[in-house]
Amino acid sequence: MRAVDVIAKKRDGGELTAEEISFFIQGYTRDEIPDYQASAWLMAIYLRGMTDRETEHLTLAMAHSGDVLDLSDVAPLVVDKHSTGGVGDKVSLVAAPTLAALGLPVGKMSGRGLGFTGGTLDKLESIPGYRSDHTTQAFKDQLRRIGIVLTGQSADLAPADGKLYALRDVTATVPALPLIVGSVMSKKIAGGANAIVLDVKVGSGAFMKTVAEATVLAETMVRIGRSLGRRIVALLSDMNQPLGWAVGNALELREAIDTLRGGGPPDFYAHCIEVVAEMLLLVERAGDLDAARALAAQAITSGAAWEKFTALIAAQGGDVPTVEHPERLPQARLVEPLPAPADGFLQRVDAAQVGLAVMALGGGRAKKGDALDHAVGVVTHVKVGDRVSRGAPLLTLHANDAQRLAEARERLLAAHIIGPQAVDPLPLFYGRIALP
Ligand code: URA
Repeated sequence: MRAVDVIAKKRDGGELTAEEISFFIQGYTRDEIPDYQASAWLMAIYLRGMTDRETEHLTLAMAHSGDVLDLSDVAPLVVDKHSTGGVGDKVSLVAAPTLAALGLPVGKMSGRGLGFTGGTLDKLESIPGYRSDHTTQAFKDQLRRIGIVLTGQSADLAPADGKLYALRDVTATVPALPLIVGSVMSKKIAGGANAIVLDVKVGSGAFMKTVAEATVLAETMVRIGRSLGRRIVALLSDMNQPLGWAVGNALELREAIDTLRGGGPPDFYAHCIEVVAEMLLLVERAGDLDAARALAAQAITSGAAWEKFTALIAAQGGDVPTVEHPERLPQARLVEPLPAPADGFLQRVDAAQVGLAVMALGGGRAKKGDALDHAVGVVTHVKVGDRVSRGAPLLTLHANDAQRLAEARERLLAAHIIGPQAVDPLPLFYGRIALP
């Protein structure tokens, strides 16, 4: 079999066989197929799509590109949550330790920033020393020892996703449904969790712009999870504005720390509670959502979630005093408000543009392997539906370069639409998908 023929078949709209897909995934994982051919293949998939059958083959081939963990010797039930990517989405940083504090072992493989979205690993790596390259053995050992792991793909675990993810990020091939399904679900399958809550984002700051598209994505992932015997549910959540206030690696980490300590933005806190509560329902630790929410809130207010978080940071080599004193996290030199240009109401936000502004400040990657500036980002002060007054700060920019700051300012101004009409606040969720 030749890679060029598999590329040509997809370019021409053909349906790839399981053998062709595994040939490509294995070849790329082992460095036998180069980046330029993989890039062409990804673009062909982006443009032509994949059938459900192809998407399932892709997911399984990616999951089996490394070890597929069986965690039954570690714990009878391991849980995991995953987001399809958003702006200001730091839910894992709060939800994972909260679940672990409730006695549910969390074994999670996260991603880095992708396109205009941020990545949990990039946020955690704002902490000096934090490591996210667990071997299979290290993953299991840590899970057994402290009941929580928050790592990335490694040479052992879903390595195909590790490589393809970085390539998609810089080849404009991220927002393709089969590639998102393959990426998310291969990590979830390889990670070995028995129960999975998917946070499927919808809106201007998500890869799926409409509820209809997000529903198809969620149903596909839930179906694959179910067919592999996992308990799985997907929430469709709003991403038409950044979640919480902060966007940017260290700024978001700081916000997650505030939330774990009982503060944080109300929308972000409510979102985290909902994700945890859905998991508690899925594993039958609560009889209904209200009881589940109360348990989740209690894990935070008691300080148990915060304790798990610091145990996680310590176990992964991170500097605990830095998270205990988050003012020691990287800080930008230039911190400037962006005043609202008019009186009125914040009617709409182009959240992808907010993510792109943070990337352009240095918070994301333009090409594979680029170093990040963890300190940069924005902190928003208003939500859609809020009244704004001319001259009052719409948001605050954190930058390390005056030229980049000026460019981000323009982009952010254009991304915030202010008008005289009042508009309703945005909902947090649009629904949930749990197939029978
Ligand atoms: N998260 C992932 O892990 N992969 C994607 O493709 C999108 C979000």
